[in-house]
Amino acid sequence: MMKRRPLIAGNWKMNLSVDDSIKLVREIAANTDQLEGVEVLVAPPFTALSAVKEAIGNSRIFLGAQNIHWEMSGAYTGEISGTMLQEAGCTHVIIGHSERRSLFKETSEIIDFKAKAASLLGLVPILCIGETLEQREGGQTFAVLREQLVLSLNNYRTDRMMPPSTILAYEPVWAIGTGKTATPLQAQEVHRFIREWIDKNFDSGTASQVRILYGGSVKPDNISDLMSKEDIDGALVGGASLKADSFLQIIRFDER
Ligand code: PGA
Repeated sequence: MMKRRPLIAGNWKMNLSVDDSIKLVREIAANTDQLEGVEVLVAPPFTALSAVKEAIGNSRIFLGAQNIHWEMSGAYTGEISGTMLQEAGCTHVIIGHSERRSLFKETSEIIDFKAKAASLLGLVPILCIGETLEQREGGQTFAVLREQLVLSLNNYRTDRMMPPSTILAYEPVWAIGTGKTATPLQAQEVHRFIREWIDKNFDSGTASQVRILYGGSVKPDNISDLMSKEDIDGALVGGASLKADSFLQIIRFDER
C-alpha cells in the first residue's frame, strides 16, 4: 500500500496584514527547506495570496485559499472563482469549514458544488466536516458525518469517482478555537469511519490514498499523539499556525 504523505496546513482565517503574512511565510520557508517527508501548506486571506506566493518562491510550501465560488466567472459580487485562485498561485482550497457552514450558512449542497468546481480546475479541495458538541453528546456524531459526506461529495458519488488527491478534514466544531482537542482515540475512530465510508462509496484504492487531516486546537504538545494514529494524515491548524514558532513545532511533529 502506498504510504500517505503527512500534510500540515495552516488556516490563517481573517488574520495578518500582507506584511505580516510575508514575514510569517518566509520564516516557515527558511526553516522547512531541508525537511523531507512532510508537506506544508498555508491558507492566507485572499488579499495576501499573491504576495505570499511570491514570498514562497521556490520553497516547497503549498498555497491554499480559504474559500471558492463554484462558478468560473459572472455576476457574483464579492466572490472569488477557482481560476482567480489559480491566477494568484493557489493549488489547494479549503471548502466547507465549519465557520463557513455556521456563520455564512453554507450547506453541504453548496460545498458539493464548490468541491466539483475545484476539482474540474485541478485545485485540490480540503473539504471539512465535523459535528457540534450537542450532536456528539446526543450520540449523533456518525450520522451527522455520514450525512455531510453523502451531501458534500454528491457530485463525486454521481461520477463514481473521487480524485485520490482529495483531502478531507475532520474538524469537530467543539474543538475549533476552544483549546479542547479530540483525544487521539476519538479522532482516530472518526478518521477510520471516514476511510471506510470512502471505501464503501468509491473503492479501496481511493480510500487508501485520500488524506484525512484532523483540525481543532492542534498544538505543538498534542500533534505527535494525534499523528501516531493510523488514519490521521496531518492537521489543519488555525490559531497555532499564526506564529512561526508553534507552526514549525507542529510541522516537526516527528522530532518531538
Ligand atoms: P484552531 O482552528 O486550530 O484554532 O482550533 C482550526 C480550524 O478552524 O481549522
